[in-house]
Amino acid sequence: MERTFLMIKPDGVQRNLVGEVVRRFETKGFTLVGLKLMKVSRELAEKHYDVHKERPFFGSLVDFITSAPVVAMVWEGDGVVAAARKIIGATNPLTAEPGTIRGDYGVSIGRNLIHGSDAIETAQREISLWFSDEELVSWEPTMKSWLY
Ligand code: TYD
Repeated sequence: MERTFLMIKPDGVQRNLVGEVVRRFETKGFTLVGLKLMKVSRELAEKHYDVHKERPFFGSLVDFITSAPVVAMVWEGDGVVAAARKIIGATNPLTAEPGTIRGDYGVSIGRNLIHGSDAIETAQREISLWFSDEELVSWEPTMKSWLY
């Protein structure tokens, strides 16, 4: 089944939004298959944001991601990659729709609370960058037959 990589950024952890973010994905009906709180190395942050390495905000983005703990997660479900992007909202929290995580809790593009993979191939790359196979747990929620 489809999987995506989500990361609650340092601002989301500092603002005590971990439970709120997890709740939104759980109640939607997605399945949590990996979760860890961690300090991110510069090497990992740079690899994760490699696509942006020529952008002017790259240095400050890496500084920010490595500044305090993040919560890295893998979620599973039909269409979870695109659905998670909708739940997260637009990159700039000021233009993100109310009801989305960024639209409800953020005011600054540099402090937009959460990362979500933007495509299925990106999700596969990010999951293997952040998690080892042993850290991911495949399981069948008992309520699954009421979701699908
Ligand atoms: P991007 O991949 O474009 O957005 P998203 O996180 O919605 O997939 O950008 C990655 C992160 O870089 C973004 O979440 C916040 C940061 N960023 C800036 O700080 N300034 C900017 O102008 C942009 C476009 C992104």
